Amino acid sequence: MEIGLSRKELVNILKDESEDVLKSLIDQSYSVKLANVGESVYLRGLVEISNICRKNCLYCGIRSENRIQRYLLTEDEIIQQGEYALKQGYGSVVLQGGERCDSEFIDMIERVIIRLKGLSESVQDSVYNRPLGITLSLGEQSKETYQRWFEAGAHRYLLRIETSNPTLYSKIHPNNPLHSHTTRLKALNFLRECGYQVGSGVMIGLPYQTIEDLADDLIFLKDWGIDMCGMGPYIPHHKSPLYGLTIPEDNIRFTISLKMVALLRLLMPDINIAATTAMQTLHPYGRELAIKAGANVMMPNLTPSRAAKEYLLYEKKPTHIEDNKNDIFKNPDIKFGYHLWGDSPRFLSKNSK
Ligand code: 5AD
Ligand code: SF4
Repeated sequence: MEIGLSRKELVNILKDESEDVLKSLIDQSYSVKLANVGESVYLRGLVEISNICRKNCLYCGIRSENRIQRYLLTEDEIIQQGEYALKQGYGSVVLQGGERCDSEFIDMIERVIIRLKGLSESVQDSVYNRPLGITLSLGEQSKETYQRWFEAGAHRYLLRIETSNPTLYSKIHPNNPLHSHTTRLKALNFLRECGYQVGSGVMIGLPYQTIEDLADDLIFLKDWGIDMCGMGPYIPHHKSPLYGLTIPEDNIRFTISLKMVALLRLLMPDINIAATTAMQTLHPYGRELAIKAGANVMMPNLTPSRAAKEYLLYEKKPTHIEDNKNDIFKNPDIKFGYHLWGDSPRFLSKNSK
């Protein structure tokens, strides 16, 4: 069951400010979610392994030009967080970090993936005795690197397109070959060719971004055929060049983000969609509302506290302690898929044909 929505309809819904339109969109998308991916919310423990990045994106707090304390977790620290994730019943981990393409880094990630995969055998309880799912979010790499990490045991990769509009992309990134929309698209294609479940997404409410751009983003994600999506509001960082530029108010960026989640669920009923941290940053119940609007994945932050305060992509980003303040895990309305990978149904059905 796929719901066809024209570009014009997408624009109209995104522009409409009435509560009734929002409510009926969310009701519709929640029932499409139930019918296609069920009610479970799958968990991925997010480990932000390093804030060392060769890029200098104009919106990001850890851009290479910023003077901040740089860190790289040790292999043992990452493995410890993997063990913790297993014990918590999170079926998967996401290793996220700034972009590095040197061989020392590539080798280390390969070793860590192999160790994480072997972890379940060393954890005694039979419930935990299944391998962790491994998602990577480590930026643009060569096809060979993606292939090596895939063969080591990673099976999902997140690489946001940030915006599908190349002109807007060039306004929010430095103008040099390291920050190229075309290269990013190529990297997404490499990921699919290597066999990953591919996740992408965009930032919502960027300076210079129009509602038409956002409608085009949804169409892009659908036409490209992503398996998973992580998207959320843009949140300014005072140490970034885009800071101070005009953007919609927080509550408007939040509502548009909720609508983007709901519309994507209608357009792509069987993909995995994350309730992102950025949603929660703008609203104390941001993740719960995203889940009601069609999201079915959540990524609790497992970055050790010594590092979490240095991984500030944007301001007020919650660390793992704050992350659990409203104790979403005790919310009786949300059913978590503990100990499960919760792979993208779209990917599974595509690959069983
Ligand atoms: N606001 C919101 N999201 C941001 N990201 C980076 N900087 C910001 C910001 N200021 C997102 C980008 C990137 C992901 C890791 O974090 O979309 O792909
Ligand atoms: Fe690096 Fe990602 Fe930040 Fe860009 S958004 S500077 S690639 S960490």
